[in-house]
Amino acid sequence: MSEILRFLQRRNSCAKLTEPAPGPGELDEIFAAALRAPDHAWLRPSRFIVIAGERRHALGELLEQCLLQRNRAADDAARAKARNAPLRAPLVVVTVVKLSAHPKVPPLEQRLSAGCAAHGVLLAAESLGYAGIWRTGDAAFDRNVMDGLGLGQDEEIIGFLYLGSRDGAAKSLPELHSAEFVTTW
Ligand SMILES: Cc1cc2nc3c(=O)[nH]c(=O)nc-3n(C[C@H](O)[C@H](O)[C@H](O)COP(=O)(O)O)c2cc1C
Repeated sequence: MSEILRFLQRRNSCAKLTEPAPGPGELDEIFAAALRAPDHAWLRPSRFIVIAGERRHALGELLEQCLLQRNRAADDAARAKARNAPLRAPLVVVTVVKLSAHPKVPPLEQRLSAGCAAHGVLLAAESLGYAGIWRTGDAAFDRNVMDGLGLGQDEEIIGFLYLGSRDGAAKSLPELHSAEFVTTW
C-alpha cells in the first residue's frame, strides 16, 4: 500500500492539543495544499483566519459576548466554557466560505468546496506531524461571531480548526468496513 494511502486511511482528529503549532512557513504550505480543494468554476470560495497566541483570548471574549447575546441567562460555567474554548489549542484557523452568485455553482457546492479545504488543512497539518480537530457549535452559526471576525454578509464560518501537537496518545481509530458503506448500482 502507498504511504499516502495509508496516511489517508489513518487520519485521526485530536481534541487534546498542545504546543508547538505549525509556524508561519508551515502554515503557508498547509494553506497551499488546502487551496487545492475541488472548486467548481474556480470561484475560490475558501479563506482562512489564523488566530494564535494572545489573540485567542480576544476570540474567547468575542465568543463569550456572543453567547450572552444569544442567551442572556448563560451561567458562569457556560460563559467560562465559551471564553476558554480557543485556549484548547495553540492555534485556531477559522475556515470561511465566501458565497458568490453563479448560474452553475449553487451555495451548497461552494460550502462543500470550503469543507474540502478545511479537511485539507487537517490533512496537511497531520502530514507535517501536527494534529487538529474541526469544531463548530452554536458560535459557528452566529452572525455576531462572524461580524466580530470581520466576515462579510456573503461569508460564513465553515469551521474552527484547532491545531497543535498531540497531547498524549492518539485515540484508536474506529473499525470501518467499507463494504458496509458501498453498493454497486
Ligand atoms: C462540520 C463538522 C463540525 C464538527 N463540530 C464538532 C464540534 O463542535 N465538537 C466536536 O467535538 N467535534 C466536532 N466535529 C467532529 C470532529 O471534528 C471529529 O471528526 C470527531 O471527533 C471524530 O474524530 P475523527 O475525525 O478522528 O474520526 C465536527 C466535524 C465536522 C465535519
